[in-house]
Amino acid sequence: MNKQLRKAVIAGNWKMNNTPAEAAHLIEEIRPLVANASCDVVVCVPFIDLHAAAKAAQGTTIRIGAQNCHWAQNGAFTGEISAPMLRAAGVTHVIIGHSERRTYFGETNGTVNRRVRAALDEGLNVILCVGESSEQRRQGVTDELVAMQVKIALDGVTEAELQRVIIAYEPIWAIGTGKTATAQQANAVCAVIRGAVAALYGTDCANKITIQYGGSMNAQNAAELLSQPDIDGGLIGGASLKAPDFAAIVTAADKG
Ligand code: PGA
Repeated sequence: MNKQLRKAVIAGNWKMNNTPAEAAHLIEEIRPLVANASCDVVVCVPFIDLHAAAKAAQGTTIRIGAQNCHWAQNGAFTGEISAPMLRAAGVTHVIIGHSERRTYFGETNGTVNRRVRAALDEGLNVILCVGESSEQRRQGVTDELVAMQVKIALDGVTEAELQRVIIAYEPIWAIGTGKTATAQQANAVCAVIRGAVAALYGTDCANKITIQYGGSMNAQNAAELLSQPDIDGGLIGGASLKAPDFAAIVTAADKG
């Protein structure tokens, strides 16, 4: 019942893959396959591909996302891209706090919060990633950890702004490993995340927020994961690089 209050969102996270020409080609392949999708379809591409991707998606319902943004609007931040720049490039969504950013590029809950705020200030939709390592799962701190990640990331975010936030639960041990969380494991943590949102904003807001699962979701396992009561979509890495696989996940979301 609550699931009907929420928009299913399938987002591809291409990570550091595809040149602009390859990006245009892949989006052209995806276009006809998702033309009748009722869920939201987003592809999050490398910065350098944004222009080509936005052009290839023109006139379709496919939305273009980036994979990060800086918290300042401009300034001396070599190598960074700001939220206004993304907006000007036709971007509607931005992934923030992906575990690869946290692990390899020093992102903290604090910088994730600043980036979330900047993206929301610019009118963008945020895909906020949270999730535990295998060690943290073994230690039994998964629930507290994801609740804390959510709480800090959303610090200062208003109830109105929350409508533009999607939360992606991505257990680090499942990302790119082929080792998916079971549907029950994934759903349980998505429910914890919904509870954390309820504690901050109340149950009405919590019932409306889209929560994705990410981590080795593919054409085979998507249907089971997406049929879970608290899983409203997916953030897809590897399988989003193949048009038929990505489209099969979109179809599964439409049925989920
Ligand atoms: P994966 O990546 O689907 O390749 O595991 C998911 C992600 O990192 O968003």
